[in-house]
Amino acid sequence: MSRSAELARLIRAEAGEAPADCALVLGSGLGHLAGAVRGRAIPYADLPGFPHAGVSGHVPQLVVGELEGRRVVVLGGRAHYYETGRPDAMRLPLEVLRELGCTRLILTNAAGSLRPDIPPGGLMLLSDHIALAGTNPLIGEPSEARFVPMTDAHDPAMRAGLRRAAQALGIALPEGVYCWFSGPSFETPAEIRAARILGADAVGMSTVPEVILARFLGLRCAAISVITNMGAGLSDEAISHDHTKAMAPQGAALLEQILRHYLRHDL
Ligand code: HPA
Repeated sequence: MSRSAELARLIRAEAGEAPADCALVLGSGLGHLAGAVRGRAIPYADLPGFPHAGVSGHVPQLVVGELEGRRVVVLGGRAHYYETGRPDAMRLPLEVLRELGCTRLILTNAAGSLRPDIPPGGLMLLSDHIALAGTNPLIGEPSEARFVPMTDAHDPAMRAGLRRAAQALGIALPEGVYCWFSGPSFETPAEIRAARILGADAVGMSTVPEVILARFLGLRCAAISVITNMGAGLSDEAISHDHTKAMAPQGAALLEQILRHYLRHDL
């Protein structure tokens, strides 16, 4: 049995056999959303091969349970490329989501905005991304399946559903292109100007490897950024991880409303 199948069996033994439908990955400062789910929480430490998710602002646990009448799996923390140098650090957790029956994945992250009309405290739905970090989680994957098409990687139907949810709630959910920098240092102002010229609307240090892995695994996915700051050089505010964690809850409250509406109305 594969490692992911073994882990899925272990999780089902604890959390029940019913297959899950939708999975969520929570970004920096967004971990408390896992608390919205009524169900069983399993620390990553009890799931051999899961990342240690050592970044503060993340809660390294997997929660299986009910949210707005749907069975969901929430990954409370993610491993970033910058923690290990491995862009495929989230491969096993995503394989486990698929084993648990998930067909849809919603990724969340904290990000810096490059657009004055997408201010801190707000959200951005990813229409597409740029893998500027220059690596790929499928490097070394031997199967032909590694040649993953990335057109519409950010699922148009899921995005439409999330936009409908936001619209029904009167929450602004602009769409934009997310540019993946490796981190962990923040960008320089020159890098932010370069990203803008390349067509980016927001920058961050995560999510893109997970989108690539999700498409490789056949999961439909969409991603939402919680904007915590303007990109370096675009405002006077100081950029720091503490600032990210302090700002994330504002956008997280809006994000939770959108996700609940999306799930409740099966958008
Ligand atoms: N850059 C990269 N990652 C981030 C930022 C940023 O400005 N804000 C939150 N995560």
